[in-house]
Amino acid sequence: MKRHQILVFDTTLRDGEQCPGASMNLREKLEVARQLARLQVDVIEAGFPVISDGDFESVQAIAKEIKGPVIAGLARCVPKDIDAAAAAVKPAGKRGRIHVFLATSKIHREFKLGKPQDEIVRLAVEGVKRAKSYLDNVEFSPEDGSRTEPEFLIQVCKAVVAAGATTVNIPDTVGWALPEQFGSLIGRLYQEVPEFQSGQAIISVHCHNDLGLAVANSLAAVRAGAGQVECTINGIGERAGNASLEEIVMALKTRSDYYEGLECGINTREIVKSSRLVARMSSLIVQRNKAIVGENAFAHASGIHQDGVLKKRETYEIMNPEEVGWGQSELPLTKHSGRAALAARLKHLGFKLSESDVQAIFARFKDIGDKKKFVYDDDLTTLVGSHITEVPETWALDYLGVSCGNQTVPTATVRLKRAAAKKTPEIMQDAGIGDGPVDAALKAIDRITNTQGRLMEYALRAVSQGKDALGEVTVKVNFGQGDLVPGKGASTDVIEASARAYLNAVNRFLSATQAQSQKMDQP
Ligand code: KIV
Ligand code: ZN
Repeated sequence: MKRHQILVFDTTLRDGEQCPGASMNLREKLEVARQLARLQVDVIEAGFPVISDGDFESVQAIAKEIKGPVIAGLARCVPKDIDAAAAAVKPAGKRGRIHVFLATSKIHREFKLGKPQDEIVRLAVEGVKRAKSYLDNVEFSPEDGSRTEPEFLIQVCKAVVAAGATTVNIPDTVGWALPEQFGSLIGRLYQEVPEFQSGQAIISVHCHNDLGLAVANSLAAVRAGAGQVECTINGIGERAGNASLEEIVMALKTRSDYYEGLECGINTREIVKSSRLVARMSSLIVQRNKAIVGENAFAHASGIHQDGVLKKRETYEIMNPEEVGWGQSELPLTKHSGRAALAARLKHLGFKLSESDVQAIFARFKDIGDKKKFVYDDDLTTLVGSHITEVPETWALDYLGVSCGNQTVPTATVRLKRAAAKKTPEIMQDAGIGDGPVDAALKAIDRITNTQGRLMEYALRAVSQGKDALGEVTVKVNFGQGDLVPGKGASTDVIEASARAYLNAVNRFLSATQAQSQKMDQP
């Protein structure tokens, strides 16, 4: 049987990060990129360098550090974008890729760009040529490709391949495609563009999930000749998200009888770890029944199923949970574990942390170790996540006391420490009453920090097992200006976790406001 390698192009850090509330800072992006390298993806799309200094820096840092995968930077078909992408991926040397895109569909040509077909072809060719002047590895995407007239799409593919594109990615930008139709479109491109058949260039697909068909469309495309799939961990992305990496990879593997000879090089045992890391870093919680990586994906509740699985696993399980990395946790640490044991475990989990990072995490670890018997790998990942969120701590929680019950007016006393330019931090205390202890604590925080946030989203989940589990709270807060501000906090006490998450959002808001006013002060 002829083997055919399907390249996995991960865009968690670009299209995934573009989704509202998912933005990550440099350290979070670097942790995700390291994990993607362990997962052995073929390409990491690290960002859109021209968009902001932060995006540029993170693409550059990933290109500098990450070995193995190709590092791609996105660019519109305009010189300043292409130049920025080339500069950002430069440290990756020959493993750098510039990904240029331009819309080709009739609706985008007429209403968004106001350009005729021949002008679109000219700009696409120019963009590819400019990218080619920097790097050999150039990808072109006709945005809204699935809704582009097939004849024109073929013309664009031929033109950009002749200009030097080594990958042509067909995006289903608005998630409009249907599997049979998308498969035949890809089959037609494969048949009609000789360079796709000769292997001089490959077809990629990039599917969005507006109709819940992103994975199905991607799979139909690889059967029809696509050699690369673009996807994200947990399927995060704009609107309903992108095709989920774990679902595509495991469909190809589990149904290799159907996808004969089509393989990818993913280290599937790293899937669950990647999913959890991305969920934590992006603050986008994975639904329990999500295929492959949801908490319930391998949980059999019915007695008949449990009985069957005990007799022969394959009766009700089509995949071995260990194959995707479930059940790989090491023995938990306890409050007696020392700093060296903690540092070794964090390293084993794949985190790259400085001495001072470990020191700070150790302090929180001891705190938690005092409250719960075992500290699991998931607890540690949560602690690292909270630590590297890296929001300048204008305000830090010093003390929280609550009084509540079914016959008591919930009251909270909060003491916060304000990091000061002066040597001694300022300490401020206030109390609040509310509908419940969380409401009371958040009101007290508002009063001390002089902010007025409206809690728009609140989610609490147990990080590990047991009644003493660490609870992680994720919030989105409206401070009346701009986007919703995310915050995360963890503790064995859910009220404390809520206060920490809210304070994290307050700190994020304050530092963004400060950065904004500094920018405006500049001449
Ligand atoms: O969805 C889309 O069309 C994209 C392109 C930039 C590839 O993300
Ligand atoms: Zn997209």
